[in-house]
Amino acid sequence: MPRQKFILNGKKVTIKVPDDVRLLWVLRDLLGVTGPKYGCGINVCKACTSHINGKAFNPCAVPVGKLKPTDEITTIEGLPKTVKKKQRGKHGLHPMQEAWLERDVAQCGYCQPGQIMAAVAVVKRARRQGRKVTEADFEGIRNICRCGTYTRIREAIVEGEKRM
Ligand code: FES
Ligand code: FES
Repeated sequence: MPRQKFILNGKKVTIKVPDDVRLLWVLRDLLGVTGPKYGCGINVCKACTSHINGKAFNPCAVPVGKLKPTDEITTIEGLPKTVKKKQRGKHGLHPMQEAWLERDVAQCGYCQPGQIMAAVAVVKRARRQGRKVTEADFEGIRNICRCGTYTRIREAIVEGEKRM
């Protein structure tokens, strides 16, 4: 059985699992990291959105054997530690998570870890391009929310961007 190596939320991981098992199953079923949600398993719903090397991706679509030992995977569990302690809010969370709480975004909550990870990636991409998040960025977020929390999601992204 091949040994898979990567970095998960700042810690090195080595796990024996076949190359073709997709990362979402490795995270949830083998490593017990259940923040990334299973919605469709085919890269459509975006409930599993996490980050690879700081960019949004969907682990349900990535065979674990494709990862390099230096690849850094961040799930919602590891998001607060991607910012300095002083940047964390009163709940000790990432500024985007704090904005989410303040705006009371979640309804059933199922899609929300993925929504937050997508939101952070969108703000980071806008920053890399030297600009603020735009309407086009909002429209580019494909994460589905069956509870229809989209208006609050957008409000929280604007608030989270200011705090990041
Ligand atoms: S579970 Fe990954 S995109 Fe739906
Ligand atoms: S809050 Fe229920 S699916 Fe988004």
